[in-house]
Amino acid sequence: MKGLAMLEVPNHSKQVLRTVWAALGLLAGLLLFVQTQGPLWQRRRVPAHASATIAKCLANDLPPGPPADFHKRRYSDRFAPGTKPVLIKNARIWTGAHNGTEVVRGGILLDKGMIQEVGRISRGTLAKYKHHLLVYDAEDRFVTPGIVDVHSHIGDASSPELEGASGDDNSPKGPILPWLRSLDGLNTHDDSYALSIAGGVTTSLVLPGSANAIGGQAFAIKLRRTAERSPTSMLLEPPYEVVGGHGPPRWRYMKHACGENPSRVYGQTRMDTVWAFREAYNKARQIKQAQDAYCSRALNGQWEDLGEYPEDLQWEALVATLRGKVKVQTHCYEAVDLDDIVRLSNEFEFPISAFHHASEAYLVPDVLKRAYGHTPAVALFATNSRYKREAYRGSEFAARILAENDLDVVMKSDHPVLNSRYLLYEAQQAFYYGLPENLAIAAVTSTSAKVLGLDHRIGYIKGGWDADLVIWDSHPLALGATPTQVFIDGIPQIESPHIVKKPKNFQHTPKVPNFDKEAADAVQYEGLPPLAPKPASSRVVLFANVSSVFLPRGEEVHHAQLQESGVVVVEEGKITCVGTSASCVLLELAEEPELIDLKGGSLSPGLVTFGSPLGLVHMEGETSTADGWVTDPLESLVPKILGGDVAVVRAADGLEFASRDALLAYRFGVTKAITAPVTAGFISGLGVSFSTGAAHRLEEGAVIQEVTALHVSIRYSGGTPSISTQIAALRRLLLDLPKGDAGRWFEKVAQGRITLVVEAHSADVIATLILLKREIEETNSVNLKMTITGATEAHLLAAEIARANIGIIVNPSRPFPAVWESRRVLPGPPLTRDSAVSLLLKHNVTVGLGIEEKWSARNLAFDIAWAALETGGDITKAQAVALGSTNIEILLGGRVEVEQAAELVARQGGDLFDVDSKVVAVIAPPYRRNKYNPVAFL
Ligand SMILES: *[C@@H]1O[C@H](CO)[C@@H](O)[C@H](O)[C@H]1NC(C)=O
Ligand SMILES: *[C@@H]1O[C@H](CO)[C@@H](O)[C@H](O)[C@H]1NC(C)=O
Ligand SMILES: *[C@@H]1O[C@H](CO)[C@@H](O)[C@H](O)[C@H]1NC(C)=O
Repeated sequence: MKGLAMLEVPNHSKQVLRTVWAALGLLAGLLLFVQTQGPLWQRRRVPAHASATIAKCLANDLPPGPPADFHKRRYSDRFAPGTKPVLIKNARIWTGAHNGTEVVRGGILLDKGMIQEVGRISRGTLAKYKHHLLVYDAEDRFVTPGIVDVHSHIGDASSPELEGASGDDNSPKGPILPWLRSLDGLNTHDDSYALSIAGGVTTSLVLPGSANAIGGQAFAIKLRRTAERSPTSMLLEPPYEVVGGHGPPRWRYMKHACGENPSRVYGQTRMDTVWAFREAYNKARQIKQAQDAYCSRALNGQWEDLGEYPEDLQWEALVATLRGKVKVQTHCYEAVDLDDIVRLSNEFEFPISAFHHASEAYLVPDVLKRAYGHTPAVALFATNSRYKREAYRGSEFAARILAENDLDVVMKSDHPVLNSRYLLYEAQQAFYYGLPENLAIAAVTSTSAKVLGLDHRIGYIKGGWDADLVIWDSHPLALGATPTQVFIDGIPQIESPHIVKKPKNFQHTPKVPNFDKEAADAVQYEGLPPLAPKPASSRVVLFANVSSVFLPRGEEVHHAQLQESGVVVVEEGKITCVGTSASCVLLELAEEPELIDLKGGSLSPGLVTFGSPLGLVHMEGETSTADGWVTDPLESLVPKILGGDVAVVRAADGLEFASRDALLAYRFGVTKAITAPVTAGFISGLGVSFSTGAAHRLEEGAVIQEVTALHVSIRYSGGTPSISTQIAALRRLLLDLPKGDAGRWFEKVAQGRITLVVEAHSADVIATLILLKREIEETNSVNLKMTITGATEAHLLAAEIARANIGIIVNPSRPFPAVWESRRVLPGPPLTRDSAVSLLLKHNVTVGLGIEEKWSARNLAFDIAWAALETGGDITKAQAVALGSTNIEILLGGRVEVEQAAELVARQGGDLFDVDSKVVAVIAPPYRRNKYNPVAFL
């Protein structure tokens, strides 16, 4: 068979293979022809399928990717006929080129679903389009490629969550399911698509969940609506194996997961999970080897007794993985898991595209570098950590540390775990904690596209790439950056965008604080650096270069702008001088002061967090670290020893101090928490206000207020108890007072002496609560104090809530239609002019900002700044500070401290509205002065 020498496939370069794809059929035919030639006695009997089989064998070793002439395309395969060409002019274009450092000023021309030209658009080109162009003036704003989310469950775990249409992301059928496809569960009516687009997301990789070791195949989709309205029509470069057609193979994706999730679901151990992987890969390897042996004979024309080509539909995708055609996306947290999967990749010789979550990757970069083929990228959350053992050592510095170790870093949403609308916020936080600017923007655009093997068409602003891009109202790394328009396949996605005017300096790269020491500590202490506050070295501290001071006064926050280089003197925790160095130097100080240069920074009240179980749990996923759940009298028998169903428990009795989330909150200026007992039912109990910096309950000032308010919850919860039952119970508790604890506390509520805090989201429930409040007030001739928390739909009743004098804690502060009762969100810019917060404020409702999960307590200053930005300057900085401090205390029955008793936070480099400011000290309130006398984090 001399004629075959030229066809020795394995010796050919992959590029050559790619270009010969078009001729593959021809090649197979030629090969067959050669095989059937020769002297009569040597002629082979060739089976009918020979031609198809030879083509299959030749294709086995073709590398996936675009055809060699991809960039000669004149239309995008996703071009929607009728789409008008677009010119975006006066743009500052972050192209993604030069390692993400190139910014070009000029225009971008979009046509045929593609970017046609970037920068200086020639007159000739413009003349060609003359009257057909839709022109957008970017007004010197930033334009970036559309955001690419490498880890989403959008459509599969769709929103609002409904039993019939959500949770299509985890199959219960076993740990190894490489044959499943996320595409098969993709709900085209997920409310999240439009919301995520409004955050600039244009492409998402929809992964199966992490309940299985091998959860199935993932698919990249573009989020826009299509004319066909089908899941298939949303796919971006789908593999031919799935949608038919032919060409050089396209990248496929596979979800893997190790550690706790598959273990929990299948009652197994890490050892079992890794064995399940090995067993599966061994099976796939056997099939692959059989195919290779078969092909080597078929390609040599040895058809005799060769039989059928060995393949198995169930294992086909895993065999493709071993052939390097699949980007393996692996959910793995801890060093042990990362190490396991790296060993697996070397044992079976397949590359790993990325490790997701990977909370300990920054501690073991060398392990990742040992992976087969190439070093996996790492897909991270910015600050979402500590919810289980696997995540306990997660660090906000992971992104920068990994980048310093030359690993590719991407940020991901795990939508709806994080709302992918705010994926850019993850990059902003990574940047804040030290990831360089170019890599931070790339971490949600170009690097993400590279991880998906789609960087030949998305993730960059370049001629020939897909016309997916975002015009931002500010620098993309400025907090709260919001699209003014989003294009997918050249189609503008936001019908009439509402644009909020941002401060001028938001058009520049934000300055960020220096966290070098903290980042080094994260590694040195293996993710658990000491966080406890330390006292300052002197009883007298002089803060220099202070530019502003916010102080609580009455029930409001007052803001004083100081002269250049203002000075604040604190003696034994008490402010004794606010002025200039000249005016304060006259003071006779008790001792030599410790000098803290705030570099134009500020003092402001310690913030107050509410809404999460902060203080009642260290890791939500570990019941042994948590106070636990209160017994709900509507659903189960409350033990007699507690007084039966009239028991009321106090969160104060379950407090656990010095959790890492509490100490981190403290370090980031959130010095207080108000927490209610954790319930899945109706009655929660009595809230408590405590110091997030305290070491234990007996420390002076650790518990700030033993009882703050009485908390109940009226939620749709699967039918029993019904909403009407919960309301009936609440009415009876208030009008027909029971005995025992419940009687005592509900009497106080009914007499207007303590606040009733009701968690409710639905506007229908809120309306009923307004009526119930009125009913009780009329019966008892009192003013009831009522606060509603959660309150996603409260904006629908803003005027009525204001009239009823009910306060609102919006939680989460940026809304998401997670469930039916909270589906009617007011999304805010660019989709609506008002956000829920700004609309409620316009109606003079007292508003506070809540959080759902305790890891986000530390981010409250960002939440406040963001909410304030969305009001478009309607509220002052002082009013904004109140959203996360005094308002929360007022609404939850907390004592608002007067000026001299307030805990104050010192920020270096700006106030809490400046991303570059950093908390460097906390001035303790009087009741803690003996112990801490300002504490400093320098
Ligand atoms: C890309 O940028 C990062 C951070 O700015 C830098 O450390 C790295 O060396 C750059 N890489 C290349 C190839 O220029
Ligand atoms: C105030 O800031 C200036 C400029 O950064 C600096 O030179 C000076 O030392 C600072 N003052 C004090 C007292 O730290
Ligand atoms: C809110 O209060 C301000 C100041 O007291 C008042 O001018 C305004 O009319 C009020 N708005 C509404 C909607 O009641």
